[in-house]
Amino acid sequence: MGNHLLKRLEEKSQKYPVDREQRLVYTWDNTKDTLTILQSASIMNGNISSSTQAVKYAGSKLKLLPYILSMSQKVSENIDNITVFDGFSGSTRVSQLYAKSGYTVYANDSASYSRVFNTAFLLNSKPPEAYQGLIDHLNALKPVEGWFTEHYGGDAFNKASCNGDGLKKPWQRKNTAKLDAIREEIDRLNLDEVSRAVALTSLILALDRVDSTLGHFAAYLNDWSVRSYRDLLLEVPALWVNQRRNVVMHDDIFDALRQLPDNIIIAYFDPPYGSNNEKMPPSRIRYASYYHIWTTICLNDRPELFGKAGRRADTSDAIAGSVFEDFRKGASGRFIATEALEKLIKETRSDYIILSYSSGGRATTDELNEVLNMYGKIVEIKKIDYKKNIMATMKWTNDWAKDVAEKNYEYLFMMERI
Ligand SMILES: C[S@@+](CC[C@H](N)C(=O)[O-])C[C@H]1O[C@@H](n2cnc3c(N)ncnc32)[C@H](O)[C@@H]1O
Repeated sequence: MGNHLLKRLEEKSQKYPVDREQRLVYTWDNTKDTLTILQSASIMNGNISSSTQAVKYAGSKLKLLPYILSMSQKVSENIDNITVFDGFSGSTRVSQLYAKSGYTVYANDSASYSRVFNTAFLLNSKPPEAYQGLIDHLNALKPVEGWFTEHYGGDAFNKASCNGDGLKKPWQRKNTAKLDAIREEIDRLNLDEVSRAVALTSLILALDRVDSTLGHFAAYLNDWSVRSYRDLLLEVPALWVNQRRNVVMHDDIFDALRQLPDNIIIAYFDPPYGSNNEKMPPSRIRYASYYHIWTTICLNDRPELFGKAGRRADTSDAIAGSVFEDFRKGASGRFIATEALEKLIKETRSDYIILSYSSGGRATTDELNEVLNMYGKIVEIKKIDYKKNIMATMKWTNDWAKDVAEKNYEYLFMMERI
């Protein structure tokens, strides 16, 4: 670690400014999934535009991006030498934000599609135009009905989105036929790792724009969505030329932690906490089952399917799932998910941990508070009312615990490891 960085790290240990409520003014472009911050009071100097690109993703931290960035910048405004770890990268929006802002990023998630998105966005070193020929070639392919059409394509004329087998479908047949042709061609082309990831990312983003779902693939709509009538059209993803040596990982978080180098300054964690409702079936909140189709498109492995949504057999509740999604209590009487969180904090070696937490998550407030105080010092808490876009900085006492039972709040905890 360079001397200037050490100095920065000393500076940051000094008392943080406590700001009261702030309103973040931004425009939100749904079609481009772009969040542009117009005015951010004391959050940042000047205006920033943080544009990232991703599929619809339950629990995506899109609206929290400016807050995550501002917290991270407090460690040091000089981000040249700062390496960050996004442990549960999911849609990859946070990893993209960090990489686009100039941090060196280690991005991890146990989902295959997350690895593909991260490879496309974080490892690319060519200008986006370099991929136009590939994307044009894929768009020009003749549609062919194959495995994806058989399982996920429905007839447009049928108001109910099924095709005679009584099962609702996520796409219209004309688009799954394109998917079938394009997916086979991506394998046939024998592309280098990044180009292949760019092609798959482009395909998945295009499918996400014409789906007939509520944003996940655990169940499909009764009637075709308006967007499902559109034709599938691939576009070059919103790539940039990466200047840093980012690293993409595809591991269980605890394996990933063991492999990380010693120079990680900030670890951002957004684990899938699940719900406090003990009666909620675990399958409802599991990422592997919500986004099984993106996994299948990445792997192109024609897996055995089950259930009304045609889920991969390996996403059944008996097999898949993460300890962070576990809704049960362990032998100790504590939630298994909370114990996993404690292990996570304990085994992380970075100087700082930024942890996302939603009100109504699995960890009980007291337990979470205890875990956060046990292995470090909470230096900042941000409470974000994501419906009203209001952010408050809380004193790093246990204040936050009082209103955590209320809905619609997202918390960001910044912990300094001691
Ligand atoms: C709440 S989402 C992360 C969302 C992400 N921050 C975003 O903005 O899109 C949680 C992620 O954790 C991943 N995950 C669950 N258990 C995991 C584990 N044990 N190791 C690594 N990743 C895991 C899931 O695949 C999912 O993408």
